[in-house]
Amino acid sequence: MCGIVGYIGFREAYPILIKGLRRLEYRGYDSAGVAIINNENQLSVYKAKGKVADLEEYSKDKDISGTIGIAHTRWATHGEPSNANAHPHYSQSENLALIHNGIIENYAVLKAELLKNGYTFQSSTDTEVLVQWIDYIYNIHKCDLFHAVQIALNQVVGAYAIAVIEKGNPDQIIAARKSSPLVVGVGENEYFLASDASPIIEYTNKVIYLDDEEIAVINRHEDPKIYTISNIKKTPEIKELEMNLSQLERGGYDHFMLKEIFEQPETLKNCMSGRVNIEGTNVTLSGIIDHKEKFINARRILIIACGTSWHAGLIGEYLFEEFCRIPVEVEYASEFRYRNPVICADDIVIAISQSGETADSLAAIELARKAGAFVYGVCNVVGSSIPRNTDSGSYTHCGPEIGVASTKAFTAQVTVLTMMALAIAKEKGTMPEENYLCTIKELQNIPSKIEKILSQNDKIKELSLIFTYAQNFIYLGRGYSYPVALEGALKLKEISYIHAEGYPAAEMKHGPIALIDNEMPIVAIATHNTIYEKVVSNIQEIKARNGRVIAIINEGDESIKELADHYIEIPETKECLDPLLSSIPLQLLAYHIAVNKNRDVDMPRNLAKSVTVE
Ligand code: F6R
Repeated sequence: MCGIVGYIGFREAYPILIKGLRRLEYRGYDSAGVAIINNENQLSVYKAKGKVADLEEYSKDKDISGTIGIAHTRWATHGEPSNANAHPHYSQSENLALIHNGIIENYAVLKAELLKNGYTFQSSTDTEVLVQWIDYIYNIHKCDLFHAVQIALNQVVGAYAIAVIEKGNPDQIIAARKSSPLVVGVGENEYFLASDASPIIEYTNKVIYLDDEEIAVINRHEDPKIYTISNIKKTPEIKELEMNLSQLERGGYDHFMLKEIFEQPETLKNCMSGRVNIEGTNVTLSGIIDHKEKFINARRILIIACGTSWHAGLIGEYLFEEFCRIPVEVEYASEFRYRNPVICADDIVIAISQSGETADSLAAIELARKAGAFVYGVCNVVGSSIPRNTDSGSYTHCGPEIGVASTKAFTAQVTVLTMMALAIAKEKGTMPEENYLCTIKELQNIPSKIEKILSQNDKIKELSLIFTYAQNFIYLGRGYSYPVALEGALKLKEISYIHAEGYPAAEMKHGPIALIDNEMPIVAIATHNTIYEKVVSNIQEIKARNGRVIAIINEGDESIKELADHYIEIPETKECLDPLLSSIPLQLLAYHIAVNKNRDVDMPRNLAKSVTVE
């Protein structure tokens, strides 16, 4: 949510900032802006409503020279998307320019105080209040910028990742974070700043991840210095990035989402690599081995997540209960954190998150840890906040996911949860050896089975044309396929803006069946499983009411082929692994419908990739 970039060094800052904003545009894209100090020490701010391309258009005849600058792409919280509300924000004196990701919760109190002291405001943002507050402190304390920021942040309630530059001071950027990510890139005589490592990797693989309440003082000719807001000096820990540049490009695909859907055979292999042994007879996750006793003695597993990651968690519930015989509860992190939940010391809390930065998930983790639970993270972004705030965990290793709609991260999360359930079941002795071995074998077959589904992309594209103008969709599934139905509906609604709902198929009779008529497409996941016959009955009930059924079936299922209006065939697998296959055609269907509707697939309206505010 909101992307931050900064540069100080020997190169022209503007092209680096713009390229960085493009890499971060998935985090928010309602407006963008840059602040640059030129060689005459003049500070200029340029900003535009819309995408980074609109900012470039606006700035093309402006003075964009200078080797220090900060830039921002916004996802609106306070104030509508507009030029005025775009960042950077100037202080009233126009001496300071600041960019911000997060929410200043006590902005109204600070603003009232500033108004009393003669400050006026150009925007409705909490960010402008913050830069004015820093300016106010700067003036009354007669201190330098670092100390003004430090004092101000001690008075601020809320979440922030900020960067500030000052007119007449072309050698320094001050940056700080609390509950919103910020990474400092360390090059040779140049430094970078970004919300995540993607704008940095092109220039250096050395980074410093700032922790909460840390301030970085980045001077042109010195190593970065880190202080806490209570003025404790920290030794910066430089880490090496493992990301590579090609992971951040579209690589010939029309959209990142399509590229990421097609990457899944590879990402799942990477996810299993080093965890499933070569013989395919064992699963080892170091995060579990190191805490074996905790898992063996766990009284309950609580899974916390949001959105697509929550859907992966629901599949985890089926897996852990079936394999490990441990009771599981799956909670929306946003509800869990505010409802005074009962958490016990022998609970294992599993937090699932692609970004590792979701504000609600982070707050839920904090609550669980305070209550003494052991917290295990399942995350994709290496070095993000969740892995740094959990007791142990496993990365999903599927590489950067740039399309806002999550695809490859979902299947990798489900794969990690499957491996976790297998590893724990083995330790607990709750899974017959034969079942354990054939589940691992079949897990290894999943990537090639996904290839087979992907080869039907053209057929799914053709099918999508029939449904482009549908107003509503229903997705149905039972057992392991129920969370897949929820996920299929979410994919469709977020990128095509078609209203879609997922239900457990048997719930139809309890209400939703009233919606069915000959205009309602129903996607039914009807693969062979223990309740296959019941799903067939559900399809019959829909057909009796003239609903239009698109069935996801196993190859050669002639009886459903006759019953349904349309079908997509997928290979047979073990029931517990079915979500890894059945979710793929639903991703492709949503993608093609959205493309047919001319939607901005990678950056759908109102959404952002990383939800760092609650
Ligand atoms: C949907 C989607 C979101 C995220 C949710 C949680 O396609 O991407 O629903 O799953 O915002 O994000 P993470 O997994 O980063 O915690």
